[in-house]
Amino acid sequence: MSAAQCRFFAKLAQAVCRLNIDPAKTDFLRLRLSRRIRALGLEEFDSYVDLLRSDPEGPEIRKFIEALTTHTTAFFRERHQYDWLDREGLAILGETGAGFDRPLTVWSAACSSGVELWSAAMLLAEAASRPGGLRRFELVGTDISHAILRKATAATYTEEETAGLADGFRVRYLMRSRAVFEDSRGHLYRIVPELRAKARFSACNLTDATSLPGLSADVVFLRNVLIYFEAAVQAQVIESVAERLRPGGILFTGHAEAVPVHPRLRSIGPSIYRKE
Ligand SMILES: C[S@@+](CC[C@H](N)C(=O)[O-])C[C@H]1O[C@@H](n2cnc3c(N)ncnc32)[C@H](O)[C@@H]1O
Repeated sequence: MSAAQCRFFAKLAQAVCRLNIDPAKTDFLRLRLSRRIRALGLEEFDSYVDLLRSDPEGPEIRKFIEALTTHTTAFFRERHQYDWLDREGLAILGETGAGFDRPLTVWSAACSSGVELWSAAMLLAEAASRPGGLRRFELVGTDISHAILRKATAATYTEEETAGLADGFRVRYLMRSRAVFEDSRGHLYRIVPELRAKARFSACNLTDATSLPGLSADVVFLRNVLIYFEAAVQAQVIESVAERLRPGGILFTGHAEAVPVHPRLRSIGPSIYRKE
């Protein structure tokens, strides 16, 4: 892949969804886009450039973006945030009525395969089963990738993906699935219907405020996605997310991410913010 091709791909990703890809990362671009070249039966990157140029609004653009996004995630990733939510967060949210007078709404804003949201769902279901615990909650997952949202909606995971879950959670919140994944060995597990019924997933581009869901969330997970945007875009995304967070609501970000200062978001712990 030539330097000019790298620049073209990086510029296109920036223009379509503000994805900040370093054009010097030739290996990354080659690896990710070779799959598209093979799938389309093309011979070389030049033909792929021509295809994208000739139909900038066409279906391949979405696949191009899909190929460049990274979906790494895990159940109870950054465990300390879930522990904090359980230990302190739910109590302070309860004071705002969340979970009691109205459902407590959790939004996973770059949800990938959904496990971030299902982890919160398990924690909330546990809290709901305790005397005096919250009574109602609802779950919203959004991501730019349609392919990964299909996985989140199916809520079906491999043995390996569910390996880190505590035994009690496996028993209460997973069921054996009859589905078969082409590339997986071992059993598959599906999130139980009681939790699935509380969740809705939809596509949205965080950098395009018009595509964001209309909601008022009590908890937002915005983790490991800000890193893909440059500073001005990060600030714009934080603004859109803060608008959709209720006063008193909680924002979790990734530990490696610097969150732009926002007048209404107060840092209350490592990668934990509360809206004033
Ligand atoms: C590394 S994963 C993080 C998943 C999860 N939040 C976590 O921390 O485990 C990043 C996710 O952000 C999504 N993403 C990237 N750019 C996005 C955008 N502009 N709008 C919405 N989602 C985006 C990707 O498709 C991917 O699923």
